[in-house]
Amino acid sequence: MLEVKKISVSYLGVPVIREVSFKVEEGQMVSIVGSNGAGKSTLLKTISGLLRPLSGEIIFLGKRIDTLPPYAITSAGISHIPEGRKIFAKLSVSDNLLVGAHTRDSKSEVQKSLEEIYTLFSILKERKDQRGETLSGGEQQMLAIARGLMSKPKLMMLDEPSLGLMPSLSVKVIEILKRISSNGTTILLVEQKVKDALELADRAYVLQTGSIVQEGTGADLLKSDSIRKAYLGM
Ligand SMILES: Nc1ncnc2c1ncn2[C@@H]1O[C@H](COP(=O)(O)OP(=O)(O)O)[C@@H](O)[C@H]1O
Ligand SMILES: [Mg+2]
Repeated sequence: MLEVKKISVSYLGVPVIREVSFKVEEGQMVSIVGSNGAGKSTLLKTISGLLRPLSGEIIFLGKRIDTLPPYAITSAGISHIPEGRKIFAKLSVSDNLLVGAHTRDSKSEVQKSLEEIYTLFSILKERKDQRGETLSGGEQQMLAIARGLMSKPKLMMLDEPSLGLMPSLSVKVIEILKRISSNGTTILLVEQKVKDALELADRAYVLQTGSIVQEGTGADLLKSDSIRKAYLGM
């Protein structure tokens, strides 16, 4: 479904992503794990068109997307939930959700998605007329994920969705991801929380200072000595 081929990305001439290649197959949950500063957010921003690669190609559903503007990439079926849950503080919960559907035409279809979202996230239904800023951190993250679903993505990319949440809420985020995945949406997750991300993943990649240094099934990587030493403190 998504194929990233040897992409390199720099900020003002400083290389941050070096010839990174990986694949996401339809229906999979793929995790890219790495420490702070490894280049995870840069990678997702490049796929969603917010940054341009210096070289390499990004193919989605058989078409090159690395030359398209962000809205066209969203329309093609990729939704990006950025780091730090950037919801609209002054908009109501329901308006935040409708913003997520801005690339879709059919009002009745959008209304149907809204109802589905309220079934999946009952807390958002209860709070639908409240302003975004009045939600707790965990509820704001649910809203950010739900807004990402409103574009009806084929591929959903999430940037550290449980960052800053207390453990009980992280567990909830993981449950939601599992549910989204079992509903048929393909997921690309980038995470610093290596254990959680590998447990979830069908396939996983380790990103270290801008390069992929290891790949395999989530289960295999969890057993790997180098990963246990470097990331799991064992
Ligand atoms: N806008 C920017 N300008 C310059 N350097 C940046 C910018 N954003 C990130 N970087 C640098 O790029 C590297 C990768 O950052 P990032 O992709 O945010 O990593 P991660 O998400 O894995 O923590 C880091 O060294 C970071 O300091
Ligand atoms: Mg990041």
